[in-house]
Amino acid sequence: EVRKDKNGIDQVVLQNSRGASARVSLHGGQVLSWKTDRGEELLFTSSKAIFKPPTAVRGGIPICFPQFGKRGLLEQHGFARNKIWLIDDNPPPLPTNYSPSKAYIDLLLKPSEEDLKAWPHSFEFRLRVSLTVDGHLNMLSRIRNINGKPFSFSFAYHTYFAVSDISEVRVEGLETLDYLDNLCNRERFTEQGDALTFESEVDRVYLSSSDAIAVFDHEKKRTFVIQKEGLPDVVVWNPWEKKSKSMADFGDEEYKQMLCVDGAAIEKPIVLKPGEEWTGRLELSVMPSI
Ligand code: BG6
Repeated sequence: EVRKDKNGIDQVVLQNSRGASARVSLHGGQVLSWKTDRGEELLFTSSKAIFKPPTAVRGGIPICFPQFGKRGLLEQHGFARNKIWLIDDNPPPLPTNYSPSKAYIDLLLKPSEEDLKAWPHSFEFRLRVSLTVDGHLNMLSRIRNINGKPFSFSFAYHTYFAVSDISEVRVEGLETLDYLDNLCNRERFTEQGDALTFESEVDRVYLSSSDAIAVFDHEKKRTFVIQKEGLPDVVVWNPWEKKSKSMADFGDEEYKQMLCVDGAAIEKPIVLKPGEEWTGRLELSVMPSI
C-alpha cells in the first residue's frame, strides 16, 4: 500500500499476516515506523521531526551514505537520507540466503547531477525493506559501483529505538571492544567489560563487533536484537540533556525515550572497484524479557 504524507511524499506500508507493520518513506528510503502485531511502535520519531527534504527526518532508520558523520567533505551523514528514492519495480535477484517474505518493498537511489558534483562516483543503491512472518524488520542494502574508477564510502543504519526510559536501558554485545569516542576527538578507548548503561551523552563507534547486539529495555520488559552482516561497527548515540536542547528538530526531554544503535561500516571504509557490489544487511527483532 502506498500513501502520501502531508508533503506529498510517498510512503509504503508493509503488513504481515499477523498484523505487524512497517512504514517506509521514499524520503531517504527511511523506515519511519515498525510495529508489533499488537500495534506497539518500536522506533522513535521526534515530535519535532521535519518531514520536508532536504532535511533528514529525526527518527526511524535514516541511512547514512556515502559518509558517516563529518568524516569527509559531504554534509553530515551523507546525502542519501535527504533524497527522494524511487520504487524499484525490477530489482536484480537477491542473494540466495535471503529469507523470502511477502511484505517487502524495493527502493533505488541513483546520484543526481548535484550529488555527482559533491561526490563524483556513479552508483546504484538498492534497498529492500521487508517484514517477516515473525515481525522481524529486515533491511538489505546493495551498493554497486557503476563508475570507471574505484570509490570508497562509509555507511550506517542509524536506528532510533524507542525505549521507555534511557536510564533503564542496557546494551549487551559491546563489552571489551575498542571504540572511537566522538566526544573526545574520536580518540580510541577500550570498553571495560560491563554491559553499557546510560547516564550522560554518548556518541561512539564500537569497532569490529560480533554480528548480534541486544538492547534491553528493563521497564518495558522487552529486548531488541540487532543482527547484522557486512557491518563490522556499531554506533551508539544518545544526545542527553544539553545536546537535545541544541537540536531544533528534537524535544528537550525526548532523549529519555530513544537510543540509537546502528549497524555500520565506518572505521574501515568499504572500497568498491568498477562493477563490484557491496551488501550490508540488518535484521531487527524484539522479544519479551524477564
Ligand atoms: C550520530 C553522530 O551518530 O548522529 C552524532 O555520531 C550526531 O555526532 C548524531 O549528532 C545525529 O546526527 P544528525 O545529523 O542526524 O543530527
